[in-house]
Amino acid sequence: MTKFSIALAAAFAVAPIFSAYAQTAASQPAPRAWLQCRACHTIKAGEANKVGPNLNKVFGARAGAIRPNFVYSPALKSSGIVWNEKTLDTWLINPAKMVRGNRMAYPGLADPVQRKALIDWMRKEAR
Ligand code: HEC
Repeated sequence: MTKFSIALAAAFAVAPIFSAYAQTAASQPAPRAWLQCRACHTIKAGEANKVGPNLNKVFGARAGAIRPNFVYSPALKSSGIVWNEKTLDTWLINPAKMVRGNRMAYPGLADPVQRKALIDWMRKEAR
């Protein structure tokens, strides 16, 4: 390897780190499905609850716990769910089926492609 090709290889090795950083630094445009959620939810730190709780820091949290100033249903609070990509996916397919008696009046998002785009976007926005 020449000095130049080593430098080039090094540049390519760090490039993904910088692009990952760029994604966290600025908000990405919301996927279409978020328009439905946003009627009831905010997601950035410090934003107010609406009909539903502000969803900041929801990943890794227990259901019904992130917003002490929001009145959750006993059903959601006692569900024992921890939110991650998988549990959120199940929730968004049909919240009423996953947690009987919860208060999120949302029929579900059937399209797996839209659910994935939404969850990927939320993971970044909710940090
Ligand atoms: C009609 C209003 C409404 C819509 C639309 C809605 N939600 Fe909700 N959401 C709620 C309410 C109310 C709760 C609290 C439910 C409870 O306490 O049983 C909730 C709870 C949640 C929770 C659990 C929060 C926690 O702290 O455990 C998540 C995650 C969530 N919603 C995501 C979404 C996403 C993503 C969408 C869009 C696909 C969406 N919601 C659409 C009203 C809504």
